[in-house]
Amino acid sequence: MAMSDELRSIQEMVERGVREASSLEELEQLRISATGKKGSLTAIMRSMGKLAPEERPAMGQLANSVRSGVEEAIARRKAELSRAALEARIQADAVDVTLPGRRLSQGTQHLISQIREEIEDIFVGLGYTVEDGPYVETTYYNFTALNAPEDHPSRSAKDTFYVEDRAPEGKATHVLGESDVLLRTQTSGVQVHVMEEKEPPIYMICPGTVFRPDTADANHLPQFTQVEGLVVDEGITFGDLKGTLDYFCREIFGKDRATRYRPHFFPFTEPSCEVDVSCGVCHGKGCRFCKNTGWLEILGCGMVDPNVFSYVGINPEKYSGFAFGIGVERVAALRYDLPDLRMLMTGDMRFLRQF
Ligand code: DAH
Repeated sequence: MAMSDELRSIQEMVERGVREASSLEELEQLRISATGKKGSLTAIMRSMGKLAPEERPAMGQLANSVRSGVEEAIARRKAELSRAALEARIQADAVDVTLPGRRLSQGTQHLISQIREEIEDIFVGLGYTVEDGPYVETTYYNFTALNAPEDHPSRSAKDTFYVEDRAPEGKATHVLGESDVLLRTQTSGVQVHVMEEKEPPIYMICPGTVFRPDTADANHLPQFTQVEGLVVDEGITFGDLKGTLDYFCREIFGKDRATRYRPHFFPFTEPSCEVDVSCGVCHGKGCRFCKNTGWLEILGCGMVDPNVFSYVGINPEKYSGFAFGIGVERVAALRYDLPDLRMLMTGDMRFLRQF
């Protein structure tokens, strides 16, 4: 092929390549193959010396113009491709600064934790200590040392979650031993632990979770929260119990709510009572919320039974005391007129955000 034809065919090839190149890398390959050290155009320029002297000027001129044409075409395409690449990157990285920011929602304490801490604050203010106890107990701490008789119905597997069921095979019930393991049904067992470890005077509360095999409904939960209280000192009377719990009720529900002490039975206290607070919905007149009684029950209490003292080696001739157990979910329901305790367990943010 004549050199001029060769030059033109290189020019055509490069121009086509430039048109078809879709990336900067492809374009660079094309440049190297034409004007690089081992490129086709470079090779022709080098062979210029072999031409007859009279052919050289025309051929040299042609080769130079082909080279500058090729270089220019590559440079132009390179600018185009670079702009496109930059454009694509800007598109991909685009941040729309006019969009509203994504707010990180800040967590808050659950209503039950708030009220539990509020109850703690009230009693810490009266000089009580805050104790802790195990969720998994033995029958000794949950029942026996709390003076519950062997045949007390609350000991049955219908009312207590047993972790280890030691009933003889084929028998539904059995007399439970002292070492049967269960999920505590009440925080009262902590009274026994504390009295075993500390000498009177004792002024303590213990908040914590308790468990009962109840189906959840508007008024029951299989897992709920109690705050146990225990006072053991010389000369403690029912007047101390009433003064303390009246103060607690006023602090937590406000001064306009009345309290009522209703006789009741608990194995570990004598005498015992349940404390009701006047209904916040009807202010004592009677409504659906309080089942037309005007009152709502929030805690059990009483004077510590001397039998309980004898289990832990405290002299009932020298010391007396009172105990109480507050239902924290009940307190929440009463304070905020909640129609259904299950609202406290479902984690529905529309409900929880209100507190
Ligand atoms: N443990 C009782 C319950 O779960 C509540 C209770 C009543 C606790 C009287 C006490 C008490 O300390 O003295 O129903």
